[in-house]
Amino acid sequence: MKWTTERRYRRYEDWTEEEIKQLKEKNAQSPWHTSYHVEPATGLLNDPNGFSCFDGKWVVFYQNFPFGAAHGLKSWVQLESDDLVHFTETGVKVLPDTPLDSHGAYSGSAMQFGDQLFLFYTGNVRDENWIRHPYQIGALMDKTGKIEKIDKVLIDQPVDSTDHFRDPQIFNFKGQYYAIVGGQDLEKKGFVRLYKAMENDYTNWQAVGDLDFANDRTAYMMECPNLVFVGEQPVLLYCPQGLDKSVLDYDNIYPNMYKIGASFNPENAKMVDVSQLQNMDYGFEAYATQGFNAPDGRALAVSWLGLPDVSYPSDSFEHQGTFSLVKELTIQDGKLYQYPVKAIENLRASEQVFGNQEKTSNTYELELKLEANSQTEIVLLADKEGKGLSINFDLVNGQVTVDRSQAGEQYAQEFGSTRSCPIEVKATTANIFIDKSVFEIFINKGEKVFSGRVFPHTDQNGILIKSGNPTGTYYELDYGRKTN
Ligand code: FRU
Repeated sequence: MKWTTERRYRRYEDWTEEEIKQLKEKNAQSPWHTSYHVEPATGLLNDPNGFSCFDGKWVVFYQNFPFGAAHGLKSWVQLESDDLVHFTETGVKVLPDTPLDSHGAYSGSAMQFGDQLFLFYTGNVRDENWIRHPYQIGALMDKTGKIEKIDKVLIDQPVDSTDHFRDPQIFNFKGQYYAIVGGQDLEKKGFVRLYKAMENDYTNWQAVGDLDFANDRTAYMMECPNLVFVGEQPVLLYCPQGLDKSVLDYDNIYPNMYKIGASFNPENAKMVDVSQLQNMDYGFEAYATQGFNAPDGRALAVSWLGLPDVSYPSDSFEHQGTFSLVKELTIQDGKLYQYPVKAIENLRASEQVFGNQEKTSNTYELELKLEANSQTEIVLLADKEGKGLSINFDLVNGQVTVDRSQAGEQYAQEFGSTRSCPIEVKATTANIFIDKSVFEIFINKGEKVFSGRVFPHTDQNGILIKSGNPTGTYYELDYGRKTN
């Protein structure tokens, strides 16, 4: 069935029970469902939205098109957690059901005010000529999950922006609420605009100006900007679409980048002493990362392990996209570290010395030690012939390379099937999480990260040490209960 515009934007109530039943049956047949990574109940999952703490629980929503593996009429689907590892769908959704979000409840953020969670998001509206009107709008969710939409536009499309203006993130800086929104100016260059909540009223926003983060102005759009604070230091996480590769090289269709500032000056919308641009993730997928500062001050982040405008092997089972693990962000020696929250260790069900294995469940964590000046290649998701996901730690030349060209079904090959990043040649650790069709590799406890999807064949479930002498531990991971 072709995904025509009409089919993508068909109203939710027009999908028949029979169609949904068939969709669920197809979905259930997929060999690539994850065990401990959030994935959609059905259809497509993209950006994390509304990541927050509410009523003593962690809350995050996912952008969802529920009727198949396509980008169509989007809604938010809520998940709850008490440990940032186990997430459960609550049934609460933000549906595209008003004139201000008729063509999609697009991405946004959340913040608790009193007894309610304020959801700040983009209402995507298309008029009869299919012209887009992006409205930054809000909704209030109470403790029972009842959602009431605020019946007015909170931030209008600025006169100096095209219709690409979206993804508001609300944040608190020293007791004052601010928001940033990503956009595209009339010269088709991306920008991030800072707004201030007048008298701290989240329905009354005034522009402060364009966030000054030493924008190189090569990207045509900034999607999903997030400002989080690690101590005093602002970290801007964002997705500069079309970023010129001479500014910073990347392989994925669109990159997820960051910059760190020494401090933040909201009066003139400035990130002071801003760092060089850096790639958040060296793998094949990690996009639309959403970060927020938890009540205890920690900067937490979660990414979409998927990319826009890419088809996936799981599409044939009508599901696409997962979340990354929840990562804590820290800064060490001026560098951003991203590492899964401590509670992930609770999934470790049994352990053994790391070594070759003919058959695993493909749900494990490896904690490896690599000696200085050593060269090591391991193959995960390996079949009998040793074909699988190859990870090469070259601590002679200072490079880690991940090669998925032999790991099951291939896709997005026009963007290459290997990814590399430079590392220092000293002794190194690698924590590698494998979950059926997801891998996340954290070098030196999060100094460098490679995330991505793989769609292994059914016989690809071994571990092979091809060269070198890596030592460490294999932990079988047991989620206990499934996400959905
Ligand atoms: C990023 C994005 C956002 C938008 C949402 C729509 O992946 O394009 O900019 O709000 O997805 O689903």
